[in-house]
Amino acid sequence: MPTVTFIVEGQERTFDVDLPSLPYSHHGLQGSLLDIAKNLDVPLEHACGGSCACTTCHVIVREGAGNLSDMQDDEADRLDTAWDLTPQSRLGCQAVVHGDVVCEIPMYTRNYVQEGGGIRLGRRAGASEAAPAAEPGSDGAKRERLP
Ligand code: FES
Repeated sequence: MPTVTFIVEGQERTFDVDLPSLPYSHHGLQGSLLDIAKNLDVPLEHACGGSCACTTCHVIVREGAGNLSDMQDDEADRLDTAWDLTPQSRLGCQAVVHGDVVCEIPMYTRNYVQEGGGIRLGRRAGASEAAPAAEPGSDGAKRERLP
């Protein structure tokens, strides 16, 4: 029975996980760090529901990287856009647990979902690179108008 430790805001939460009896949470791959976190009420974000389309489930594996499933190309491609990427980074929804693991949930994640639209930090792909026009709001403050 694997032992999975999540480090959340510096606090370790360790669980003995009976993988065969763990109900599938329908978030990420079955038996993934996200699936386990959802079952155990560990606060791991998952903006795309675990479909490898965001990076909010980014974790940093501190121990036991060899006890996780191999990283596939789509995970590696998505992970490249993660905030504060490290050589030990994985997407929690794609990393399936096969043995003891210690992972840390980073303080910050990039919380946007990419679903074929090429969204880039508040701008649509192909949108003008020119600065957006500003207009006053009802309180007199300047507001940016999205293209
Ligand atoms: S939850 Fe979106 S990539 Fe893992």
